[in-house]
Amino acid sequence: MKTVLAFDVYGTLIDTHGLLAELTDMMGDKAELFSHTWRNKQLEYSFRRGLMRQYQHFSVCTEQALRFTCRQLQVTLSEDQQQWLLEKYLRLPAFNDVQSALPELAEKYILVAFSNGEQRAVNSLLSHAGINQHFHHVITADAVETFKPDPVIYQHLLNSVRCAANQTWLISSNPFDVIGASECGWNTAWVKRSQQAVFDPWGITPSVEISDSGQLSLMLKDTV
Ligand code: 2OP
Repeated sequence: MKTVLAFDVYGTLIDTHGLLAELTDMMGDKAELFSHTWRNKQLEYSFRRGLMRQYQHFSVCTEQALRFTCRQLQVTLSEDQQQWLLEKYLRLPAFNDVQSALPELAEKYILVAFSNGEQRAVNSLLSHAGINQHFHHVITADAVETFKPDPVIYQHLLNSVRCAANQTWLISSNPFDVIGASECGWNTAWVKRSQQAVFDPWGITPSVEISDSGQLSLMLKDTV
């Protein structure tokens, strides 16, 4: 069987800070802090819901994190503005390197989009970004009602794609995801998308580190 490459979606394929221009129009120089607080809170809510076994779709975490961020940063957005941002969140852009890297990879490997997002949201993101045709499978958290890094969801991917952990790679910019997959015996590529990104010092290291998905093909040629 071909090697499986499971791509994390938010932050790895899709730029979660892709609404910076719209946020700047709305709130000026608070936009960057707003975007980061929104993303961090969204992740925190998914982790807490996972621990509490109180699953709700990732889009609920996104919406509640948006409301939290408005309150914490004292930014007043009308209900219409918030709904507009949430609609836009379904059409966030892909990173530039992604569009050019995927076609070649899809010829050699089985590509899977693998996300804490729900199927509807992830399909929308991938098709708006024009990259959905490269994926053989879209595996999302709503099928098992828990979130990465719960080992249940990594096992769900192996069962769905019918592959073994050691023939599967997680490609992710999110250290929590890389560590989660690593602990399940997968190979991992950490996409260090910014110079400032720090990998959690848990004594676990990714199999490879790359700065964008364009480097993946080259890296895998030496390792797979
Ligand atoms: C994902 O797409 C949340 O980035 C994370 O699974």
